[in-house]
Amino acid sequence: MALDDLLSWLAPASPDADLVRRLDFDRLPAHVAIIMDGNGRWAGRRHLPRVEGHRAGTRAVREVIETAARLGLGHITLYAFSVENWKRPAAEVATLMALLKRYVRSELKTLLSNNIRLCVIGRIHDLPADVQHELAVAMERTQHNTGTVLSIALNYGGRAEIVDAIRAALAQGLRPEDIDEARVADLLYTRGQPDPDLLIRTSGELRISNFLLWQIAYAEIYVTDTFWPDFRRTHLFEALLDFQKRERRYGGVTTASSRPAAASR
Ligand code: FPP
Repeated sequence: MALDDLLSWLAPASPDADLVRRLDFDRLPAHVAIIMDGNGRWAGRRHLPRVEGHRAGTRAVREVIETAARLGLGHITLYAFSVENWKRPAAEVATLMALLKRYVRSELKTLLSNNIRLCVIGRIHDLPADVQHELAVAMERTQHNTGTVLSIALNYGGRAEIVDAIRAALAQGLRPEDIDEARVADLLYTRGQPDPDLLIRTSGELRISNFLLWQIAYAEIYVTDTFWPDFRRTHLFEALLDFQKRERRYGGVTTASSRPAAASR
């Protein structure tokens, strides 16, 4: 069971163990999405180059993913590189691509041992060929894993995703009467995944930044001032506890953190 597994992983009398004991494992979000923000500011405060913030951010990624798997979260999606991020200095973009490639290669064993399936969402075909190759290998190796689905959003934009969905609909010859919400969801990169119930943003910014625009229609939003490189499992547990205090109404009447049938949203 997730609780026993987690407690055996954490120091018994630690603050993290206390947080975990307060979680209701029957009401965990089915899907947690995270806007990892604040890497540059984290580095700036330490008089380090921005890329050091991204490097430190990779350590946070590792801890959060392993924690998500041990919690038994069904889906976790991380916003790693947006369609707008190409505007950053070439050296920063190159470092981000190198970090991604290294992460995917070095973490493959951990993904396999934690039964995690890797997915990538975004305009993947525009990524450097070596990064695409590394991702393809890891997705192929983890495709039969049945635990947490880890989606990394790369060269991702919510509007671009909707444009791609409309293009796909036209290419499939769909007619206006074929289109409803379920069909649109099926044309998105996230097809087959539940919508995020919880969207976490680090570094205190109150923006969505073109992330999962369709899918977060009913997500609970949790913003922490913590910069992403400092985000640890403690922060994830705190976000989940906060989520479990929310009253989710989906435009209707009170139902404590329950998911609606698609038609009744
Ligand atoms: C936003 O911080 C962060 C990013 C654009 C990149 C996130 C990438 C990582 C955490 C590293 C690699 C990822 C994986 C999945 C292995 P920012 O640079 O915009 O920070 P700022 O707002 O403080 O400038």
